[in-house]
This record gives sequence, structure tokens and C-alpha cells, in this order.
Amino acid sequence: MKNTDTMKHVRGESLFIDDFTLPEGTLHAVIFDSPVANGKIKLLDIENAKAGKGIIDILTFKDIPGQNQIGNIIQDETLLAEKELHYIGEPIAIIIAESVDAGEKAKHLIQIDIEELPAITDVRDAFEKGSLITDPVTFSMGNVEKNWDLYDVVVEGQVDIGGQEHLYLETQGAIAIPAEGNEVKIISSTQGPTVVQRAAAKVLGLPMHKIEVDVLRLGGAFGGKEDQATPWAVMSALACLKLNRPVKLLLDRSDDLRMTGKRHPYSADYKIGLSKEGKIAAYEATFYQNAGAVADLSTAILERTLFHATNSYFIPNIKVTGISCKTNLPPNTAFRGFGGPQGMFVIESAIFKASEKLKIPATEIQKMNLIKDGDQFYYGQNAENSNAIKCFNMAIEKYNFDKLKENVVRFNKQNKLFKKGIALMPVCFGISFTSSFLNQAGALVHVYTDGSISVSTAAIEMGQGVNQKIKTVVAKTFSVDISRIKIETTNTTRIANTSATAASTGADLNGNAAIIASKNILERLQKFAAKELGKEYPNLIEIKNETVFYDGNETTLKWEELIWKVYFNRICLSSQAYYATPDIYFNRSKNKGHPFAYHVYGTAVVISKVDILRGIYEIESVKVIHDFGKSIDTKVDLGQAEGGIVQGIGWLTVEELVQNSEGKLLSNSLSTYKIPDIYSAPKNIEIHFLEDSTNNYGPLKSKAIGEPPFMYGIGAYFSIISAMKNFKPGLDIKITAPITPERVLMNLYEPIKTTAPTKQTH
Ligand code: HPA
Ligand code: MOS
Repeated sequence: MKNTDTMKHVRGESLFIDDFTLPEGTLHAVIFDSPVANGKIKLLDIENAKAGKGIIDILTFKDIPGQNQIGNIIQDETLLAEKELHYIGEPIAIIIAESVDAGEKAKHLIQIDIEELPAITDVRDAFEKGSLITDPVTFSMGNVEKNWDLYDVVVEGQVDIGGQEHLYLETQGAIAIPAEGNEVKIISSTQGPTVVQRAAAKVLGLPMHKIEVDVLRLGGAFGGKEDQATPWAVMSALACLKLNRPVKLLLDRSDDLRMTGKRHPYSADYKIGLSKEGKIAAYEATFYQNAGAVADLSTAILERTLFHATNSYFIPNIKVTGISCKTNLPPNTAFRGFGGPQGMFVIESAIFKASEKLKIPATEIQKMNLIKDGDQFYYGQNAENSNAIKCFNMAIEKYNFDKLKENVVRFNKQNKLFKKGIALMPVCFGISFTSSFLNQAGALVHVYTDGSISVSTAAIEMGQGVNQKIKTVVAKTFSVDISRIKIETTNTTRIANTSATAASTGADLNGNAAIIASKNILERLQKFAAKELGKEYPNLIEIKNETVFYDGNETTLKWEELIWKVYFNRICLSSQAYYATPDIYFNRSKNKGHPFAYHVYGTAVVISKVDILRGIYEIESVKVIHDFGKSIDTKVDLGQAEGGIVQGIGWLTVEELVQNSEGKLLSNSLSTYKIPDIYSAPKNIEIHFLEDSTNNYGPLKSKAIGEPPFMYGIGAYFSIISAMKNFKPGLDIKITAPITPERVLMNLYEPIKTTAPTKQTH
């Protein structure tokens, strides 16, 4: 993998929050957080702690000059707790100290008395108690109400899906620096600079123009910094303005794991009706989303679950309902796929269970129901340029699926204690923020007099390579060497009203805006060059590899000379531009519309090998046909696909979040929360580009790549449980994710009945 940051990364030269040279006098913020998941503060005494060594101040909600409110979609989230506590890790006070050490010590000097109340952690429990974030939402098409007895086979079941820790390498953090006139500059590790700016303005009681947010890059985010980088940035700004000193706040790993939300755990009920051949006629599902203590982005995430509830399939009668349930866990949040993966996992579970009942391979049911052009998604949009069938067939042919399957069967015949399983996983993922208004971006391009180019956009580089892509599209638009392009930090004074870099749209929205800005300048260059060369038609001027051509003929005018002359003739070498995705809308009273600019398709073939005695497994291979459109940068795109696949596998296999009934996170370190390492990653990942794919909405006809490959990981789950069934064919597996080695064993074998221990005499 090679992108603009690679060399800096491997040399350790890339700067993250913890690497910036701090201004003289910078103070450090440490958070005092709730020790209980539900309770009322009876007494909070910070005076002792304030007198501690190296302590400058301790701030509570009483120190907030504006509103104590940072809720994004729903205004239900305080920056600092007032009376009630809703989850373990909820921020109560900010300790401002000369050093992190001093701040940590002062934590223990704060006195707090809490009336503890019972906590809800389980999503079904929350639902039964009526603890909801908002009203349920239903998407439907056709009629699922009546016809169940018309179908040859009806299968019902429950699916339970675990959450996932983002585990960005760089933990949440920010540095706030005072500027003259009660203003502040925040250097933040956020996907959404404007989200931070808006929340800071509200909390500080200041107009947005007094708050500048600047982002160089993030050490990973995966959705975890779409909304949840905000509190730490706002807290640092609050302390900074109160004390008129720079303030740094960087969570250590254990605080980050405890305080921040994760991918939402879901529980779901489904009902699926099929013909005896395997054609799906009806599907009904209810998704119970464990939102945690406040809304955060949960409602939008739940909505995307509903959008992706049928994955790549066309189902004529459908009704899917999402219920966001409030529990006493840290607010769960955006995570790669944004609810889509949970929706897809449930339909794949339903197909798996239906295949058992029908005695037809799941792959046959999948194949028979793929969406094709002209089929309507139940949210009103028609499938156009659907590559679902193409990708599926190409995967079967290119990887010789029948042969792979035969090999699995042969292996299973020859091995008693190791069993293999094979699964296909088609993916169809909609591209655009489902909140249509977010699909906008700005760009600002300057050409300097030496011919070098500066590009600002709203895109946040978080390791995904968006800067490399934007560099590439700008270099191609001007036809200059890529080394002439610099991507600037993402800054709210250069690009206003940014949407978070999210929903896989970063390169699409910002790349398109950068192209428009570049073309504006290019047009002026053409006009000038025509005049300079005494030619009639500016549109016959072309720049190719930094040389000016007229009507296909090379001239003597080169890029640097051209730029200098343009400047000298007082023609503007800068352009601001704006891009908004065309053709999208969604009507929330009907839940119909055209929410996505386009869809990304693909299919993975996944083979796993399970050790039947130990319950451990290997993902042997993941072979993918993926619809990249016309890739802007194949290495960046392959890197995203591979990373997504491994992360998706981790979610459903080894990554298990465990809380006790008091809402305390037990998997609170990397010794107890296992993520895939190089040993547990698939032995072989093969990815082929779907040929002849194109996309009118993507820069240079590319397609978005960030999220879609994540869901190939679902295939790993079903390959593992297939392998288990190849050991015990009659096994009725409970669909619970993740399928950890422990769960493999618990599904394969009856628990050993232990008799009460007899008294031992020595
Ligand atoms: N994806 C990510 N973030 C979002 C979305 C989405 O579809 N909608 C609103 N915020
Ligand atoms: Mo992403 S989960 O849309 O930040």
C-alpha cells in the first residue's frame, strides 16, 4: 500500500494529537467520570481535589457559559453530567492540571455520593421496560401481513449480534489554543470538524466564527470519531477559554475503552417465507438496537439497518421495523457500515435457517433472489446498473466455486476432527448519507506562482487514503505531476459547514468539489493561453503533462511559465467550489424516495476450518469480486477492501464485548478484548475488480470503498457455522454473534453435567 502518508508513517514523522509541539504553558485535562451506570448525584465535592498539587482548576457543568448540550440529532446529551448519571464513564468533571499525572492523582480526591439505581444493559430488557430513544420506524412494501400460509416454507427465529470496539490506534483527543478576543482554535482528532465547531459554539455560548477547528489527520476512526470526538474537543475548548491557556485532552486507552460508545449490539426477530424452490416471497423483521444511554447517531444508524435489511436481494413483500432502545451503556455510535452490517447479518441468518429447512444450499437461495435492474428496493428506489448478479456469477466462475466446494467436501470426508465450511456473501451497499442534506462538500484550490497547488476540502484523512485520491484527481484535472499538489489540513475557516467524512462518501463528495474548483481555474488558464498564443478557441487549449497543446499540437508554453504569466496578467489563480450529490431525496413520512446516488456490489467466497475439539478456527481464504467502479488508486482501494474484510471478520468471530449486569465493561483492555491480528487474519485474501464497472457519480467514475467490504466478513460467520454443521449435520445452531471459539464449543457439545462437589477429607 502506498499513499501520500506512507513514508511519513513508516518513519514516524506523521503528526497525531500526541505529537504536536505544545505551546508554552499548555495545561492537561483529565476526566472524572461516573462510576455507576445509573444513579443520582447526591453530593459532588471538588474542593479537596482543587487544592491538590499541580491542579489549576476543576470544571463541572456549572462552568458552562452556554448550553450544556452536545446532542447531534436529538438534544439529549449533556457535556458534563448535572444530577443524573446514565452510564459508567459518563463525564462529570474536567480536572485541569499542570500534568496528566497530577490530574490523575486529583481524581481520587474528588468526593462523590451517588444514589445508585438499577441498570439496564440488555436490549430486550430495555424494550420491555419501554426504555426507548424514539418511536419505532417501519419500512415496507407489498403485503406481509396476511399471506404467510401461502408460502411453502416459513421460518422464524431470533438473532443476537454483538457490538464492536473501534480500536482506532489514536485515542480520542484534542488541543485547544486561545486566540485573541475570546476565540479558540481546536486541533481535533475528529471526522466532523463542523460537528465539533457547532457543539463548541453552543456550549461556549459563542458564534461559530469564533471557533476554528483544524484537523491534520486521524490515527484511525472507523466511525468512532464521527460524533464522539466532539465531547473531548469541546471540553478542551471550555477549559481553554476559562483559563486563557492552551489545553490538551487525550484519553488514555483504558479511559477511551470505558467512556466511548461502540458498534450497536442488536437483537432481532425475523420471519421469512419462501417457495419450495427457494424463492423468497416475504420477509419481516424487527430490529432491537442497543443505543446506550443517549441517542448520538443511533436513529440514523437504525435507519440504515432498515435500508440494508434485504442486502442484495429482491423481496416483493417486506416489512422491517427498527426500535432504538435506551440502556445504561455508553452511547453506541457510528461504526463502518453504520447499521448496514446488522441488517445484512439478519437476512443472511434467515436464509441460512431457511436453507436447513428447505434442504437447499444457502448459496442457491442467495443466487435465486439477487436484485436485478428494474426491481424496486422497498424504500422506493429502483435498482439501476445492478451488479449483484454479475459479481455473484463472476465469483462463482473466477474462483471455481464448484471445485472449492468439492475440496471442502473431500476434506471433510478425510478429517474427523477438523471440518471446513464454505459460504458466499453478496453485498449491496447504498452510497450517500441517508440524511440527504449531508451530501454536500466544498473545496478551495490555490495555484501558487511557482505552479505548486494547494487543495483544501472537507475530507478528513484517517488512514483511508482520501488525500491520495484527491491529489490524484486534481493532478489529473490539471494534468500536472502529482508532486505539485499539497492537501492542506481540514479547517473550518477554509471550508465551512463540512459534513463529516463518513458514509464512504469522503472521496466522492470532496473529490468532486476539488475537480470543480480545479476546472474553474483550468478554464481561466485555457482562456489566457489562447490569447497568449494568439489562438481563437480557448476550448481547443489543453494541458497535457504540464505542456500546453492547441488543437492537439504541442506548443512551447509550459505549466510554470503559464502560471507566472497568468498571475502577471492579474487573473485569479484560486477557486472555491461546491458539490452536492444530485438526484437524491427521501420522504420520511412515507419512507420512500431515492436516498442513494448508487450502490456498491460485490461477492465474497469464504472458507473456514474449524478445530472440532478446541473450537478454534482459521479463516482459510476470502476470495472477492468487488465493484470498484473505475478505481482512482487501486492500491488504496485494495487496502481499504482488505482492512474492511478483516475488521468485518473480527466483529463476528473473535471480538466480544462483555459487560456485567451493572453495566461495567469487563473486556476493557486488549488482553480481554481480542481483535484479529496477523495470525487470525485470513491466510489468503484475493480480490478481483469487477470488470467494466463505471459510475457517473464518482470522481473519475470511481465508486466509494470505505464501508462495503466490511460486510464480506459476514461470510466468515456462515462458513464457520457450516463447518460445525459438517461435523454435526443435525445441529440447530443458535445464531448469536460473535461466534467465538467458546461459542463454537457450546453449540457443538452439551454442557458437561457437574454433580455437587463431594466433601473432601484429607
Ligand atoms: N452514514 C454515516 N453517517 C451518517 C449517515 C449515513 O448514512 N446519515 C447521517 N449520518
Ligand atoms: Mo462512518 S460509520 O459513516 O463514520
